[in-house]
Amino acid sequence: MKLFLDTIDLAEIRFFSDIGIIEGVTTNPSLIAASGRRTSETIKEICSIIDAPVSAEVISLDSAGMIDEGLQLSAISSNVAIKIPVTWEGLKACKHLSNKGIMVNMTLCFSALQNLLAAKSGASFVSVFVGRQDDIGSDGMQIISDTIGIYRQYPDICSKVLVASIRSPLHIYNAAKLGADICTVPPKVMKQLLEHPLTYKGIEKFLQDFKKSETVRT
Ligand code: E4P
Repeated sequence: MKLFLDTIDLAEIRFFSDIGIIEGVTTNPSLIAASGRRTSETIKEICSIIDAPVSAEVISLDSAGMIDEGLQLSAISSNVAIKIPVTWEGLKACKHLSNKGIMVNMTLCFSALQNLLAAKSGASFVSVFVGRQDDIGSDGMQIISDTIGIYRQYPDICSKVLVASIRSPLHIYNAAKLGADICTVPPKVMKQLLEHPLTYKGIEKFLQDFKKSETVRT
């Protein structure tokens, strides 16, 4: 399972990219708006750090506008994936851009049937928002399981199941057990993945024992 970073924080992207564990970045209009920066310059900066899919979202609601925005965003770099909401207009724009060889990340997906339509429209990535589903008392991970099950029935489907709206390490654990293709993870949750008190305790103990043995030798 691949890990993408769900952020526009350049320092975090550099940090995890240097470690070598992330294979893509996702952004959305809310994240960019909170930074006060412009979408195009933010995406350009992220693409200068990481040579992997970087998702940038359109804000138009009609297919012509989505296509226009998509073409402008994809002109920034060949690794930009165009994020488009799963509406009829979105599906039309997805088909058009996919046919041109541009990666599309179909977003705001909340049902297995939406995900089937996204796949039929040629989406490279299908972003299923598990956290927002859980927030309304529904089971987000069930959609992941259903979608993987459906996609596996049809080998001609090339779309990748991208688990988005991740709130905790448990989402990633469950997504990996189900065989999801990708999880896009906020930096805070990414850091939680490695946290374990016994690891730090173990390092401390090994260091103390090493120091004791050095003292005995000298
Ligand atoms: C990523 O592609 C999504 O935009 C993001 O994961 C949404 O997360 P949220 O539900 O926490 O806003």
